[in-house]
Parts: sequence; structure tokens; C-alpha cells
Amino acid sequence: MRIIETVAEMQAFSREARREGKSISLVPTMGFLHEGHASLMIEGKKRADILVTSIFVNPTQFGPTEDFDAYPRDLARDRNVAETAGVDIIFAPKASDMYPRGFQTYVNVEELTLPLCGASRPGHFQGVTTVVAKLLNIVMPHVALFGKKDFQQLAVIRRMAADLNMDVEIVGMPIVREADGLAMSSRNAYLGPEERRNALCLSRALATARDLFLDGERSVGTLRDRVLRVIGEVSGAVIDYADFRDGDTLEAVETANGRTLIALAVKIGTTRLIDNCILGEEQ
Ligand code: PAF
Repeated sequence: MRIIETVAEMQAFSREARREGKSISLVPTMGFLHEGHASLMIEGKKRADILVTSIFVNPTQFGPTEDFDAYPRDLARDRNVAETAGVDIIFAPKASDMYPRGFQTYVNVEELTLPLCGASRPGHFQGVTTVVAKLLNIVMPHVALFGKKDFQQLAVIRRMAADLNMDVEIVGMPIVREADGLAMSSRNAYLGPEERRNALCLSRALATARDLFLDGERSVGTLRDRVLRVIGEVSGAVIDYADFRDGDTLEAVETANGRTLIALAVKIGTTRLIDNCILGEEQ
């Protein structure tokens, strides 16, 4: 496994690989890798000759009061996870190389970024789409893989790739959970033992709503009440949003069907966690 630290070297590598007829897959990450990332890498390895993962804590997707400085970083540990998962190249650029002096171009997806995390984190998705567009231009992958835990992010990136005619296949991969149901996230590292227990209210609320749906309940009002009740039972859990949306358009729905998305963002202490499910999909 090789580590590439500059944009110029990464582009030269990918250009040469493509010239030799090799296919490239990309797993973009912000590091502090866990089994969720590893699952993307293992799939990425199957889909191309060369697997690249980027590790870059992207400053433009964090708001001024968010956790950019505190975001967990551990490149030594990430190297091990990546190597075990079959990564060929880690691309770990510096912020000054990604956003040099004079940088002033941003990618903005409209409607899809308005609700959910877009409403709570103004500017977040513009930072995500801009850095992902840059990573796609730098690494030039044939396929790029993203986790469905960031469901809205995946939808926004798919939209961007389609709207801008990007010559890349965007693949969404299932959420990977701890044995007790907690969705894997680098931010889980912030949780103390009691918060870790409390954090289970997200997956519990989703499972409760899904069970009700499978028993025939279709009223979003009723399903939402149950979600709110399950989360409300946990002291120290503060709901940012608990939304029922169409899984394709992200428009709000009042009647649930198999493509309905339940999207949650809940603060456990000071840690904001997200989780989601599509009601008709196997979990
Ligand atoms: O999901 C993430 O880790 C980030 O938002 C991404 C896609 C790597 C862009 O910085």
C-alpha cells in the first residue's frame, strides 16, 4: 500500500493507471476508519483493479461551531484498517493543497440539500459536494462508494454526478452496525459509556417504527409518535430531526410505503448522531 500526499502525484498516478487500461475505485473518507469504511473498501476492491481511499478531514463541510478541530484523527491506525481491507493507495492531501490561496469555486446541489442535515448544518453539503467533485477529478475513479448511513449525502452526490455528467458510477453500501444496533460512525468515539448506551435509542426507534410498519401501520403521524416516544424515554437525547421522507426525492410524506425513509439526527450529550432506515428494506 502506498500513501500519496499531493494532488499532483495522485492525478499523475491515476492518469498513468488509466492509460494502462486499469480501473480505479475510490472510497472517500475523513479517516478514523471503522468497519463501515472497511465494508466500502472490500466492495471497492472487488469492483476495480486499483482501490484508492482518500483520508481528508474536509474543513469546508464543517460549520464554524462544529467539531472540525476535535474530529478524531489517527493515520497510523487508519493505515492498518485500510491495508487489511485491501487498499492500494491512501490519498491523504493537505488542506492547503486541496484549497490553495485564491480558491473560490463551489458545487451546490439545490432542493435535495434543503431538508434534514442541510437545514441543521447550513453550508455542509456545499462543502461535501465540492470536495467530492474535487476528489473525483483528482483520483479519476470508475466507481466511487459511499455509505447509506449518510443517506442524504449519498442522494446529493448521486444527483451531482448525474447533473454534471460525471463519468463515474456511484455505489451506495448498507449501514454497518455494532452488535447492539448502533450504526458505526467515527463520531461514536466521542461517546462516554452512559452516552453509548443512550445512543441505542436511534436504532431502537427505527426498529420500533419498522416493526409497526411491517404490522401494517401506514400513518406517518402514528409512526412518528412512536419514534419520538422511544427517543424521549432517554434523558439527554435531544432530537434535531425525526423525519419521514420519500427515499428517492427526500420530499416529506404523510403515508408510509416501502420506499419511505425515516431519517434521524439526535444529540446524545454533545455528540450529534444520525441514523436512518428505508421501511421496506431488509436491515
Ligand atoms: O462521509 C464522509 O466521510 C465525508 O462527508 C466525505 C464523503 C468523505 C466528504 O468529505
